Amino acid sequence: MDRLDKNISRREFIRHSTVSAAALGAAAMAGSYSALAAQQKIKKVRMALVGTGIRGSTTWGTELLKELGDYVEIVGLCDINPLRVEVANRWMGGKIPTFTDFDKMLDQTKPDRVMVTVMDCYHAQYVCRAMELGYDAMSEKPLCSTAEQAQQLIDTQKRTGRKLDVTFNARYGQAEMKVKELLLAGEIGDLYSVDYAEFLDLDHGASYFRRWHGIKHNSGTLLCHKASHHFDQLNWWIDSDPVEVVAYGRLNKYGSNSSIRHANCRPCPYKKQCELYYDMTTDKAFMELYAGCESADGYYRDGCLWRHDIDIPDTYSAQIKYKNGTLVTYSLNATVPFEGQLVVFNGSKGRIDLRNYNTQPWTVPYESELRLTRNFKGSELVKLERQAGEFFEHGGADSRIKQMIFKPGMPDPLGQLAGMRAGLMSSGIGIAAYTSIETGRRVKISELFNIA
Ligand SMILES: NC(=O)c1ccc[n+]([C@@H]2O[C@H](COP(=O)([O-])OP(=O)(O)OC[C@H]3O[C@@H](n4cnc5c(N)ncnc54)[C@H](O)[C@@H]3O)[C@@H](O)[C@H]2O)c1
Repeated sequence: MDRLDKNISRREFIRHSTVSAAALGAAAMAGSYSALAAQQKIKKVRMALVGTGIRGSTTWGTELLKELGDYVEIVGLCDINPLRVEVANRWMGGKIPTFTDFDKMLDQTKPDRVMVTVMDCYHAQYVCRAMELGYDAMSEKPLCSTAEQAQQLIDTQKRTGRKLDVTFNARYGQAEMKVKELLLAGEIGDLYSVDYAEFLDLDHGASYFRRWHGIKHNSGTLLCHKASHHFDQLNWWIDSDPVEVVAYGRLNKYGSNSSIRHANCRPCPYKKQCELYYDMTTDKAFMELYAGCESADGYYRDGCLWRHDIDIPDTYSAQIKYKNGTLVTYSLNATVPFEGQLVVFNGSKGRIDLRNYNTQPWTVPYESELRLTRNFKGSELVKLERQAGEFFEHGGADSRIKQMIFKPGMPDPLGQLAGMRAGLMSSGIGIAAYTSIETGRRVKISELFNIA
């Protein structure tokens, strides 16, 4: 789901435009929330945030304040990079206290909630620390990327009793919610199997290998980082726990699979030869948030795709067995010409086909097609209505999850709010899958952590 807003005009449009459809949509929402908030005399949630990269500073920063500023305020910003935290603060109006020390931020701001949007491998550490210090937390996906982190989360929550939300926005896409409705309504009877194929293109897919994600220690491979969305969707749709996983993976394209390489693209001597050269200099926001902050941590957002230290596969295949008997076949391929997903549900009474495709560059919205076929009764397309503004922010999913979390009294008939257990079960599949790739054996979720 993290569709990086590569197209500059679109990103600028979302972030700075005062007349865009998204801004108008947000303003309209904010207007109605405002009136409601005033009527209900709602006390704003005081949120502190750690990890002021692109996700933290936009979705959970500028956009959150724009959309739900009557319900939530940001009382502190923290990042290990002292320059980036200041950029984020500027984007949010320049008045929020900034920190590089997490404990100090919590001590000085005493927030109601702590949002964790740092690099994946530190989510568990910050969530646990917040809980230990007596605060409720929220974490971006994946909740964790190792079995040890999973157990630490379980033990810490048990001891502290604090609340945790995991922000699985992929549950909030319109087509994905419709699938859940169809399954809940029993339209295809008992679920026998699901086939889930994820396609990431040579822009978005490749971008994971330019960034910190290409190192397993940071991301837990794309099986934790990216597929955590898909494994969570599967757990939610199937409504059962994963039990056992077997997987394969291979690095076919990136990393050492080239004869040319440099540290990063901007100074690269092979710009003309490289089929995947990326010019970050055309992106004003990225130049400010990343290039302008390199002196503090040496991190290149336009890192070379062909670095020898890339140690995660770009091609994955996995089988998952569920407690209720459902069998899943999953694949992720980060080297293909276009973006999308094919998800097929086979049940005792019929079948659902969800097809999210984008044969254009991925800055253009997905086309979604949802088909319901009943045994011996023909096939129909299920109507999906795109609303104004849904083009942006993962097809409206980001906006919906923010409302669900911050607006009091929101109904949740589809069970979309996700907590610790959902986070663990999603990451559990990813950890089991990379363990299976490394060891060549079937891995049980119960060997990884003890949730009882
Ligand atoms: N749900 C979605 O659709 C979605 C989309 C994008 C990103 N994400 C998630 O958001 C998180 C951030 O992703 P991003 O794209 O913003 O990455 P990013 O690289 O832009 O930002 C990560 C930030 O974490 C900071 N950081 C790293 N280690 C730290 C530490 N130990 N302490 C404090 N700060 C630290 C970095 O300096 C950086 O500012 C990731 O976990 C990612 O999975 C989710």
